[in-house]
Amino acid sequence: MTTNKETLLHAIEEKKAKVCVLGLGYVGLPLAVRFTEAGYPVVGIDVDKEKIEKIQKGLSYVPGVSLTSSSLRPLRASTDTSLLREADVSIICVPTPLSKTRDPDLSLVLEAGRTIARHLHPGQLVVLESTTYPGTTRELLLPLFEEKGLGVGKDFYLAYSPERIDPGNESFNLVNTPKVVAGITPSCAEAVQKLYSQIVTQVVTVSSTDTAEMVKLLENTFRSINIALVNEFAIMCHRLGLNVWEVIAAAASKPFGFMPFYPGPGLGGHCIPVDPHYLSWKLKLLAYKARLIELADEINREMPRFVVEKIVEALNRAKKSVKGSRIFILGVAYKKDSDDVRESPALDVMKLLGERGGEIAYHDPHVSQLRLENELLQSAPLTSQSLASADVVVIITDHTKFDAGEIVGHSRLIIDARNLTQGIESEKIVRL
Ligand SMILES: NC(=O)c1ccc[n+]([C@@H]2O[C@H](COP(=O)([O-])OP(=O)(O)OC[C@H]3O[C@@H](n4cnc5c(N)ncnc54)[C@H](O)[C@@H]3O)[C@@H](O)[C@H]2O)c1
Repeated sequence: MTTNKETLLHAIEEKKAKVCVLGLGYVGLPLAVRFTEAGYPVVGIDVDKEKIEKIQKGLSYVPGVSLTSSSLRPLRASTDTSLLREADVSIICVPTPLSKTRDPDLSLVLEAGRTIARHLHPGQLVVLESTTYPGTTRELLLPLFEEKGLGVGKDFYLAYSPERIDPGNESFNLVNTPKVVAGITPSCAEAVQKLYSQIVTQVVTVSSTDTAEMVKLLENTFRSINIALVNEFAIMCHRLGLNVWEVIAAAASKPFGFMPFYPGPGLGGHCIPVDPHYLSWKLKLLAYKARLIELADEINREMPRFVVEKIVEALNRAKKSVKGSRIFILGVAYKKDSDDVRESPALDVMKLLGERGGEIAYHDPHVSQLRLENELLQSAPLTSQSLASADVVVIITDHTKFDAGEIVGHSRLIIDARNLTQGIESEKIVRL
């Protein structure tokens, strides 16, 4: 066990430092796997027994993460937090959701912090990876550890490093995506930089944990605002009778000063719809209104309703009402090739259509069942028959497994919210 900075840095370099990852979800599991592959003894801790049992059986529940390789045998997974006693490095990867009033809910980060604090020993490095507002590591976590009578940067080390993982992205993964890090003190920065430089190709060190927290929020707010911009262009193009996809494709031919973003049925997942609110909440405390963040959120949250309007109009042209129509939703995950339905716009679209009396069925190759309000729906088979029998087929997620030609060939009417059917000319297709 490490006892001071020298033994910690040495143990990190020698790959002998015991790494404990708290929270084994989309962020924590790949991280635990990466440290294990790099040769570290790793313990993953989660409060979810089912996840622990799956890991112990070598079954992964995160797309793109395999647990079958023999190099992963040293990865231990447990619900037992007393294992933190042995940790030289503890990394927090727990969720940072919004409360019912859409304010930051840091209860899980605090709980994880308290658990680590109970077992904190001299020479230990603690890193927060969960996305949060600037000040969290310094204002909320640091006091939990200092209460133990240990001095930061002398007895223990505290750092922040935002996760940038993009589940399902085949080009950029944990190793080749630069990692931003910062420490509470220069010694903390040195320790965290040393740690991550063992598992990623580039580490970018910034001056404070507040800065590192803000970096992540800039990245996610950038996406949220640009997606809102193209979503609003989709709405404006609809009014003007223009094809927004054609407009974006032509604008993207400009080799500088433009980066294409694409409209869709709305934002989903744990990050983009949630994280900017952490920042606007923090700024509210400083009497500043983050106007762009709030406006982008408003536009993005209107998109499921815009998709529903398109469905209503298209059915109307076919002399049908939503009430009683068979509506077949293709894709319920919030993004391509993912199984993640958290905050998925598909849920809003289905709910709105259900309220209007539509008969809803769905197919998603990655989501076998889906809870919608109090109902548990099962993914229906995707066959020529299921497509042909629907009054309207609605493409919400552009999974790679979907064959656009087959879908267009067998369906009677298609609302394509993702431009999956790009390049196919047919009067049956209504695009965003
Ligand atoms: N999913 C992404 O693509 C992504 C990308 C970058 C950053 N993030 C951020 O990373 C953080 C984690 O996100 P995620 O998607 O991995 O969440 P997740 O829900 O997939 O996983 C979090 C895990 O933490 C566990 N957990 C909760 N409380 C715990 C505790 N006290 N001790 C141990 N385990 C606990 C949960 O059971 C769950 O398995 C969030 O702040 C998120 O915003 C997510």
